[in-house]
Amino acid sequence: MSYETITVEQRDAVTLITLNRPKALNALNSKVLEELTEAFAAYQADSSQLCAVLTGSGDKAFAAGADIKEMSEKAAADFYLEDFFSPWTSEIVKKTRKPWIAAVNGFALGGGCELAMMADFIIASENAKFGQPEIKLGVAPGMGGSQRLTKAIGKSKAMEMCLTGRMMGAEEAERSNLVARVVPHDELLDDAMKTAAQIAAMPPMAAIANKEMVNAAFETSLDQGLVIERRIFQILTASEDKKEGMAAFVEKREGKWKGR
Ligand code: CAA
Repeated sequence: MSYETITVEQRDAVTLITLNRPKALNALNSKVLEELTEAFAAYQADSSQLCAVLTGSGDKAFAAGADIKEMSEKAAADFYLEDFFSPWTSEIVKKTRKPWIAAVNGFALGGGCELAMMADFIIASENAKFGQPEIKLGVAPGMGGSQRLTKAIGKSKAMEMCLTGRMMGAEEAERSNLVARVVPHDELLDDAMKTAAQIAAMPPMAAIANKEMVNAAFETSLDQGLVIERRIFQILTASEDKKEGMAAFVEKREGKWKGR
């Protein structure tokens, strides 16, 4: 499939999706979000693909937000009637059961920060800058930022960032648990692709199950989360990959996965 605003490449079992509007700092207009939704659906549907990486083209930005020029033309009724952002972003989050990583290479602001936070985890370049500056435009986060940022870094910092619109650098983002790791700028893509390849080499059903369990921690009480964890664990013990994984350990060899 060919796209106008993103590029998609398969490297062995890893899908690399790149936001590709560098002149607009990869701002997320409707076309980008529509194409991203298609690309994530294609990744989810392709059984040869086991992990994905999302990054931004150019040296400056992952994505500097939703496209302000496009939004400035829209009336409130358009946003409301189109349930703006939801058709794309909810689809990506809910329907991508397989793992994916955001490799944040520069500005991740507004919708860009929110898109990065939809990933299973973030690897950031030392040049990355995160922020929810919507308040400066007379609005507020609209793709989950007020919720995901608060869950990631806590109320005090999230509130400060939303109310002042200030940016957070990579080092602070790592210290605040917004990102998993910070790496030198030139090594970002390589590092993210290697990490993705490492995940892609795991038993695929166990990868989906691990993702589902960790996400349950955000959506349920501890008691409910523990039940979900136990049930998924018990289901996995019936898989062919469990048999193979444990046999491979005992026989001191690499496992060969069937994904079931
Ligand atoms: N939408 C549309 N275009 C954008 C954009 C955005 N979010 N961010 C940057 N651009 C465009 C600029 O208009 C500029 O285009 P032109 O060359 O045609 O003028 C180009 O990208 C380069 O940007 P700058 O010249 O501004 O670059 P800079 O290095 O001086 O500044 C920046 C970089 C600090 C990131 C600055 O561009 C900026 O503040 N961008 C807007 C950030 C923002 O407010 N994001 C939130 C958007 S609202 C949102 O996302 C809602 C939501 O919750 C979903």
